[in-house]
Amino acid sequence: MVCLGNICRSPLAEGILKSKVNSKEVFVDSAGTGAYHVGNRPDLRSIAIANINGIDISKQKARKFEVTDFDDFDLIYVMDRSNYRIVCEQARNENDKAKVKLILNEIMPGEDVEVPDPYYGGEYGFKNVFNMLDEACTVISNKLNPNG
Ligand code: 4NP
Repeated sequence: MVCLGNICRSPLAEGILKSKVNSKEVFVDSAGTGAYHVGNRPDLRSIAIANINGIDISKQKARKFEVTDFDDFDLIYVMDRSNYRIVCEQARNENDKAKVKLILNEIMPGEDVEVPDPYYGGEYGFKNVFNMLDEACTVISNKLNPNG
């Protein structure tokens, strides 16, 4: 799961998907395309909306996306088109690039809708982001765990 800062959107996406898959079978992680917040905990507003929904993301620490992530992950879900462009620029071949997907295309195929950056917005932004990511992660988890 990749966003810009790895403190608002992608930590939520990581926590939500982890809550829906078997951790013995599926490894989920997140990263940012920017380095501003490396080493930081998620934004308190993301921690709060996750908590309300029974998910603890408070122990996560931000890191920057790196090219070796293409080796370590089969799927790379990005939150917006800027993340998509920056991650794809680092792809070494078509196989790497094919791993990169806009996460909301899971629920709105082909529409290239972005997860809005809630960093400068109010609390509703985080609730809205949580709900979008929850829907998308349900679809992703159903694909990853076809037998539940
Ligand atoms: P995120 O949100 O990409 O969802 O983690 C942001 C967090 C911090 C900044 C931008 C977006 N920032 O510019 O510091």
